[in-house]
Amino acid sequence: MSRTHNAPELPPEIARRRTFAIISHPDAGKTTLTEKLLLHGGAINMAGQVRAKGEARRTRSDFMKMEQERGISVSASAMSFEFADYWLNLVDTPGHADFSEDTYRTLTAVDAAVMVIDGAKGVESQTRKLFEVCRLRDMPILTFCNKMDRESRDPFEIIDEIQESLALDVAPVSWPIGMGRDFLGAYDLVNDRLELMDRAERNVKGRSIAIAGLDDPKLAEHLPADRLEELRAEVEMARGLLPTFDRQAFLDGTLTPIWFGSAINSFGVKELLTGLGAYAPAPQPRATETRQITADEPKVAGFVFKVQANMDPKHRDRVAFVRLCSGHFKRGAKLKHVRSGKQMAISNPVLFLANDREIADDAWAGDIIGVPNHGQLRIGDALTEGEDLRFTGIPSFAPELLQSVRAGDPLKAKHLDKALTQFAEEGAAKLFKPEIGAGWIVGVVGPLQFDVLGSRIEIEYGLPVRFEPTQYASARWLRGAAADVDAFIKANRGQMARDHDGDPVFLTRIQWDIDRAEKDFPNVELAATKQMM
Ligand code: G4P
Repeated sequence: MSRTHNAPELPPEIARRRTFAIISHPDAGKTTLTEKLLLHGGAINMAGQVRAKGEARRTRSDFMKMEQERGISVSASAMSFEFADYWLNLVDTPGHADFSEDTYRTLTAVDAAVMVIDGAKGVESQTRKLFEVCRLRDMPILTFCNKMDRESRDPFEIIDEIQESLALDVAPVSWPIGMGRDFLGAYDLVNDRLELMDRAERNVKGRSIAIAGLDDPKLAEHLPADRLEELRAEVEMARGLLPTFDRQAFLDGTLTPIWFGSAINSFGVKELLTGLGAYAPAPQPRATETRQITADEPKVAGFVFKVQANMDPKHRDRVAFVRLCSGHFKRGAKLKHVRSGKQMAISNPVLFLANDREIADDAWAGDIIGVPNHGQLRIGDALTEGEDLRFTGIPSFAPELLQSVRAGDPLKAKHLDKALTQFAEEGAAKLFKPEIGAGWIVGVVGPLQFDVLGSRIEIEYGLPVRFEPTQYASARWLRGAAADVDAFIKANRGQMARDHDGDPVFLTRIQWDIDRAEKDFPNVELAATKQMM
């Protein structure tokens, strides 16, 4: 990502856009926070009442989880809402590690991330992994330390842990007052304000009291003497020991502001939203093979980062999620689909307004629009006003688990082909057709993807399937001169397959396979990633 943050020359509509994702370990409170953000942004009226419990909800992707629990429509994949002067686009990321590839791609579509951590648990494994992905892109991170209404760790300890384990400077922008049952609210270190939590009313914003610093006698009217004394001591220590917020360091991805709150009580949510508006960057440039696309360019350009098929089982539609990188898009615009070279009239683009899909009449750089299509649009594809752009940095990763798949009913094998091809194009799994023998091999990154795939094929195609183990552990794409690649394929036919794009793939059993092949064919590169174009 480039460092031309918030270029002042951006048109106002673009300058006010903030496109972000939330990353967290399961159970830290991402769903609850999302809901409260939407509530405060006026995008939904009531926080959800229906909740699945425990494991049941963890076995689904967050997309399904949100949909099922909250009755919020499928639009949960990307949601737009306004807060103060800002237009916020929140893009959903699956919380489970098994869907990390999907998450990786989603993060290519945003300009900032909110990292939610549980105040009692601190930095957990999945937070760390997702954070590493953000770091690869130098993504600015805002941290929300959640569940302060429960027994939590000491704020200094939490900050220390983030600094140590993520090698990221942490600047407190709010300071918690008490914790657990004694959690009263937070002191806003930037605006010298006292924010008090209202426990009785979970869906309203807490009270906020303007004060003139920690010596203001008004404080004593709101806080018991011992709490006040503690707060003064802690804030003094925090101000003395911890970094102060530095916008540039934040934009460079080396410092994160932290808020302490309680999503379930709506506490800290307004402050986080204010912080997103004030600190997070406006739509950032995106790299292509030829040049950088900046948000202020007048011509529309965007790329597909996600494809969701059968969003509505009644209509077999597919929606490609497009991140607009530049320009002002108007409904009905004809855009060039660069991969096929064809013009596409985008007549029914969808903007995702939290509680429903809406036809987008217009959208700006930074926005996510859904483009219904019949399968032409794939992950990585570019849509432009004519220029042959190829966006870079949207990889497909080598699978870590490979299984063969069979239709429960052999007469329906044809339908299986169709279902699998569709899911491969959607990016839900990788599909390999071995050169020798019949059938398909499906590759995924995490085992849960097999479960979801199996159940989706059954639900969406009425086709029970069986997955069976194979001897393969991974796969590599081949890069090199055509003659070298051909020779490689000939020599390794027994382990060769084609992916759903028809590209040759070398199926590997153990690392030794890769070492040997590299030795035998030094001119062929065995790649663990492939650009999705
Ligand atoms: P996730 O999307 O990150 O997985 O988390 P989610 O929002 O679903 O929240 C996980 C659990 O934590 C939920 O409990 C939720 O109510 C609770 N939670 C979220 N924010 C807060 C908070 O600020 N304070 C407290 N005390 N709890 C919070 P649950 O539905 O009871 O689920 P479970 O505990 O039965 O798994």
